[in-house]
Amino acid sequence: MRLAEAEKVLRAIRSGDVDAVVVAGQQGSQVFTLQGAEHAYRVLIESMNEGALTLTHRKTIIYANQCFARMVKCPLEQVLGGSFRRFLSSEDWIALRSLLKQPDKSGSKTQVLLKARDGSQLPVQISIRALPKNGSHSAVFGMVVTDMTEAQRTGELLRGLSHRVVEAQEAERGRVALELHDNITQHLCAILFRLQVLVNGFSTRDGPAKGEAIKLYEMLGQTAEEVERISRNLRPGVLDLLGLAAVLRKTITEFADLTGVSVKLSGLRLVARLPADTELALYRILQEALRNVEQHARARHVAVRLRQQSVSVQLVVNDDGIGFDPDHHTAGRQGKSGLGLLGMRERASYVGGTLTIKSVRHVGTEIEVRIPLSAGSEWANRG
Ligand SMILES: Nc1ncnc2c1ncn2[C@@H]1O[C@H](COP(=O)(O)OP(=O)(O)OP(=O)(O)O)[C@@H](O)[C@H]1O
Ligand SMILES: [Mg+2]
Repeated sequence: MRLAEAEKVLRAIRSGDVDAVVVAGQQGSQVFTLQGAEHAYRVLIESMNEGALTLTHRKTIIYANQCFARMVKCPLEQVLGGSFRRFLSSEDWIALRSLLKQPDKSGSKTQVLLKARDGSQLPVQISIRALPKNGSHSAVFGMVVTDMTEAQRTGELLRGLSHRVVEAQEAERGRVALELHDNITQHLCAILFRLQVLVNGFSTRDGPAKGEAIKLYEMLGQTAEEVERISRNLRPGVLDLLGLAAVLRKTITEFADLTGVSVKLSGLRLVARLPADTELALYRILQEALRNVEQHARARHVAVRLRQQSVSVQLVVNDDGIGFDPDHHTAGRQGKSGLGLLGMRERASYVGGTLTIKSVRHVGTEIEVRIPLSAGSEWANRG
């Protein structure tokens, strides 16, 4: 009987036929007014595909739309007048309460798991607004609750795709490295051998021709070395062979020799070998960071720091170049610009890490990657 009455009242509130509601509580009866002008907004909010709520300062739900009731699988009349707390876990409740204590003027957002009445959970984003004080109106917070199931599924799909891109890139690099080594380097070595025979066949009378042949021999030797260097850099196998510290040292020395930029290196004393995926990610990120320094930074000094802590490993690459605005080169805003920064982020996220870029124009750029190490993960990914 009481349920039928409550439903009748709610229908009346939603259709705008009621201007005020009296709710009996522990501190006596309270009057909530619903001015006629709000009717249009109420109809709009009822037709929304997102949950909408207003709460008192004690977090009691004064108003909720049907969509929110559907999200928590609870009849609307049982949602109204109850605490918002019962739809959250205790951790989510603590997090939300601290946000409600100081709701940002422009609105705060948080992601939580909404607990439905049947025990199921729904990932949602809650946007909070402090409501202006309005006479006897006791709602102090307004909330919009957005179902994030689809967004999470899309995020997972994208993460899976970008993981596959990283794997495909690695496989392709391995294939190119092998082709270079098996075909080009082998051919160059054969040509070098024949050239050596030719040089040896020249007599002292053939001075200028012999000189040219020797020059050719030297140039070809340098080309073979360069091809071998490119092939080596493409292959992650060198990590297994030499270890991360040795490979980073070699990469940095080659970079300094090639570009004339001075590089300071610190913290290469690793406590233990890292998981193979983590070593590969750090190596690839350093390669791309140095390529960017070479192509864009106009730097004179670079500092590379590697630090292994108990729970994470951190690599920082610092340059004193011209700097840039990282916000214009983040994922999704790449436009015609390159894929290097995006690739670095993917590499970091592939192993559960994060990449931070700080850059100041005319001062320099800092790339920091931090990768978590799970307990006992050393050797975990090694075959
Ligand atoms: N260390 C740096 N110093 C100054 N500018 C940088 C630095 N690193 C990146 N940039 C700027 O950020 C842009 C994006 O870098 P990103 O590596 O994503 O692409 P790219 O180097 O232009 O192309 P790609 O890496 O695909 O060959 C660069 O074009 C450059 O303007
Ligand atoms: Mg680049």
